[in-house]
Amino acid sequence: MLPKSLRPLFPYLKKYRRGYAVGSLCVLLLNGIWVLFPQVIRRAVDDLHMGVTREKLWTYALLLLAVAGTKSIFQFLTRWIVIGISREIEFDLRNDLFRHLESLSYSYYQRTRTGDIMARATNDLNAVRMLLGPAIMYSANTIVFTAGALVFMFAISPKLTFYAFLPLPIVSIVIQYFGRQIHDRFEKIQAMFSDISARAQENFSGARVIRAYVQEDAEIAGFEKANQEYIARSLKLVRLMGMLWPTLETMLGLAIVLVLWLGGREVLHGRMTVGDFVAFNTYMVQLTWPVIALGWVINIFQRGTASMGRINEILAEKPEITDSEATATPEEIRGDIEFRGLNFAYNGTPVLHDVNLRIPAGSSLAVVGPTGSGKTTLVNLIPRIYDAAPESVLIDGKPIREFPLAFLRHNIGFVPQETFLFSETVRQNIAKPSQAFLSLCPDVLSQLPH
Ligand SMILES: Nc1ncnc2c1ncn2[C@@H]1O[C@H](COP(=O)(O)OP(=O)(O)O)[C@@H](O)[C@H]1O
Ligand SMILES: [Mg+2]
Repeated sequence: MLPKSLRPLFPYLKKYRRGYAVGSLCVLLLNGIWVLFPQVIRRAVDDLHMGVTREKLWTYALLLLAVAGTKSIFQFLTRWIVIGISREIEFDLRNDLFRHLESLSYSYYQRTRTGDIMARATNDLNAVRMLLGPAIMYSANTIVFTAGALVFMFAISPKLTFYAFLPLPIVSIVIQYFGRQIHDRFEKIQAMFSDISARAQENFSGARVIRAYVQEDAEIAGFEKANQEYIARSLKLVRLMGMLWPTLETMLGLAIVLVLWLGGREVLHGRMTVGDFVAFNTYMVQLTWPVIALGWVINIFQRGTASMGRINEILAEKPEITDSEATATPEEIRGDIEFRGLNFAYNGTPVLHDVNLRIPAGSSLAVVGPTGSGKTTLVNLIPRIYDAAPESVLIDGKPIREFPLAFLRHNIGFVPQETFLFSETVRQNIAKPSQAFLSLCPDVLSQLPH
């Protein structure tokens, strides 16, 4: 019954099953008490009908207060526990997502826009958290309260209960229809948000280029257009939600009118006490909130499912370059590099043809050639930023795939053409590259301020 895209969440839910168990208990107690409220009213009305005394008034007033007060306590606990768990899962999921992103190969980042990843890791993750917290909490409350109220209402009058729940099949159709629509529309909204994030990120990263070519106005216009599209898509969802609540409330209103009319007649004919009638209507009023919450739940649930689908797309990415062929861990690397009959192509576009080259350990080599001739590509193949054919790149006479990836890269010092600094201290920035690079310049590191 649950959408497939939520399946990756199961292990997380399982991890907090104890918390959810306590939360469920609170939900049961909260609604178990709240469902008694009209019962007290029923007693009070019928009892006071026989004659009003100060003592009776006090008793019933205190009783109602006690019911409402206890309900509030469990309401607080439910909220605290269930929303708390959703934050914990958000924490776990965000860490796992980040770890996964760190494991992905360089090529993934070449074909994916950074802003898109950022949007999924923040905005979509938030929608998933809403699903795990409020959506679960409200739907549990709605289901438990409705079930409890149904029992008591049925005990008061099976006939009235039938009429009260008459619109239920229509409600479930409405939920189905709106649910699918919300899902689709929200997916489109999030896709647009990704686009906007990517645009912003690229503009900030490329600020120098944009200024140099005086592209500010063009970029502003482009951003505004994307933003407009985003608003247009959001408004489509707003319109839909604007129709959902009135629809649900109309159903509820219909049920209330039916109950008032038919119930009133029952009382007039003496087939029902006033207390029963008032209690029944109190249940109807109490059901208003769960019905409103239902609209909420559908919305949050569908948003969460759509967003989880987008996060799953990242989680489904496999690192293209892996340790799968690595054999025993070697002690150390001497550093003879050899290219043997190396051919390399980017997505079918050949770049390097039959390169044969031996670079003995300890020697220096400069590779010279015009731009685009493949110098950078050649160097990238050594730390396996890209993978060449298995036997074509060797270190110390061994195909590089036989070395564990981390070991291989630890042993290579690499200064890329494009400089990039992390938003950290100089010391930390220098500490990032491989151990080998550090071992080359330990003096530099010791002289840096901490
Ligand atoms: N990630 C990539 N995807 C597709 N083609 C690429 C990629 N990187 C480089 N190329 C292409 O491979 C060729 C060699 O590029 P490169 O190795 O960067 O040359 P050089 O460093 O000698 O200037 C160029 O035609 C370039 O367009
Ligand atoms: Mg280059």
